[in-house]
Amino acid sequence: MVRGTRLAGGIALATAASLLLAFAIAWHPEIEPTMPPSPSSFARKLVIEGEQLAKLGNCAGCHTAEPGRPLAGGRSLATPFGTIFAANITPDAETGIGTWSRAAFDRAMRRGIARNGKHLYPAFPYDHFTHASDGDVEALYAWLMTRPAIASRAPETRLDGVVAFRPLIAGWNLLFLGEGPLEPDPARSSDWNRGRALAEGLAHCGGCHTPRNRFGAEDRSRAYDGAMVEGWYAPPLNARSPAVRRWTADRLHLYLRTGLSPTHAAAAGPMGDVTRALAQARDEDVRAIAVYFASLMSQAPAARQDQHDAMDRQLVAQQAHPEAAVLFAGACAVCHEPGAPMMQQGRPPLAWGTPLQVDNAHDTVRIIMEGLASPAGPAGPAMPAFADILDDGQVGALAAYLRARFTDKPPWSDIGAAVAHARRGDGK
Ligand code: HEC
Ligand code: HEC
Ligand code: HEC
Repeated sequence: MVRGTRLAGGIALATAASLLLAFAIAWHPEIEPTMPPSPSSFARKLVIEGEQLAKLGNCAGCHTAEPGRPLAGGRSLATPFGTIFAANITPDAETGIGTWSRAAFDRAMRRGIARNGKHLYPAFPYDHFTHASDGDVEALYAWLMTRPAIASRAPETRLDGVVAFRPLIAGWNLLFLGEGPLEPDPARSSDWNRGRALAEGLAHCGGCHTPRNRFGAEDRSRAYDGAMVEGWYAPPLNARSPAVRRWTADRLHLYLRTGLSPTHAAAAGPMGDVTRALAQARDEDVRAIAVYFASLMSQAPAARQDQHDAMDRQLVAQQAHPEAAVLFAGACAVCHEPGAPMMQQGRPPLAWGTPLQVDNAHDTVRIIMEGLASPAGPAGPAMPAFADILDDGQVGALAAYLRARFTDKPPWSDIGAAVAHARRGDGK
């Protein structure tokens, strides 16, 4: 009896203690609001540096819903847990971050906690931004606080189930947030180390290219192994890269700065947005990121295809997909057939593009249906959208034909699903 009571008492005490502990971990004080700082209080040099870092982190990409209202938030992000709305990060005092001190901004960027103490969802990549240096955060703050204030309240995020309860994110942070700057690797060049710090930090490349576990956190044991994002497939950027031509630091640098490459396919979909932003980042920073990823991909097989194989494959593909071969000759050859004017201007052959080489048909199908906005501005190479011209069966047949003609990989089994997915267009 006594023992039973003692046991029950012990359990009650332990429960109370763990609840208290959980509360202590999850609870963060509000940081007092301040008067919005005057834009003239920031050094111009710092503001420019902040702008270049903001391009590297593509803050505007997620925080802008309407082009005329940059950084005013409201853009929706589809996650497996529901739709999350990005916040207004202009210095508006009521609806933006105008009353946030440097310290409050710093805590949000590096620990994922808003000024009022609320935990932010990791759809905001603070698990990457935590690696930013003090100086980087200071420069970003200066840039944001000198933008025009725009009054605009982002719709409230309402997730389903337990994830709606934000204090739970404290547990997520314990498991998955590795706070602070990365230790440099003394065996590597300073470019490589800077590139890694930026790629893992502000540029958050893994946010799209690394697969996530069931808690929505990046699976570090499979860094840059390739992952689905917004209905696109972000291909591997490590030794598993299926690129046909090797990615060197020079080729990557050009691609990241311009979205184009004479040896690889143009940047499409979300990657097009990334390269348009990187075009405005600091050149040495982009160069450093290129050096880092070239080293990660240096062990990838990068098989070069030989001409005879290509001829054989073309015949086999024509026989296997006769209707698609005719469609290709009518709708695509004018740009893509060897010898076409576009090809003579240095665009890469379809056989060199990674979209055809990866294990799923998503990117190829999306490119056929949506076309490709020139990453290099209106004068650059672009591809028209075929979604309204071709029916689902024709898009699928073309994808199968391209795969058979331009790669030596097995046929895709997910073409039907990828076409249906692209037609739905909801990114889920
Ligand atoms: C991948 C999309 C994405 C990118 C890129 C991104 N953010 Fe965000 N950010 C979000 C989302 C979503 C939220 C809201 C999270 C929530 O409601 O829990 C957010 C919230 C914030 C907040 C908290 C605002 C508040 O009122 O609570 C700040 C500050 C912020 N972001 C700054 C930045 C800066 C600076 C950059 C660029 C270096 C950036 N973000 C890049 C998605 C993004
Ligand atoms: C918002 C999501 C997103 C982010 C962030 C992102 N990528 Fe991508 N990336 C993609 C997608 C999707 C593709 C595939 C579409 C395409 O081929 O253009 C891609 C393609 C690429 C390719 C082409 C690979 C190949 O073999 O053809 C490279 C290289 C690349 N990304 C590098 C980077 C680097 C470096 C960063 C960080 C600076 C980065 N990406 C950040 C989504 C993203
Ligand atoms: C008006 C010219 C034009 C036409 C017509 C056109 N494309 Fe493209 N396509 C482009 C350009 C430009 C690119 C990007 C080139 C680069 O990678 O630099 C591209 C890229 C692609 C890619 C991605 C690159 C790769 O290697 O995977 C695929 C797939 C593709 N096109 C398929 C098609 C198909 C299928 C058709 C016919 C239904 C077609 N295109 C019609 C201009 C065109």
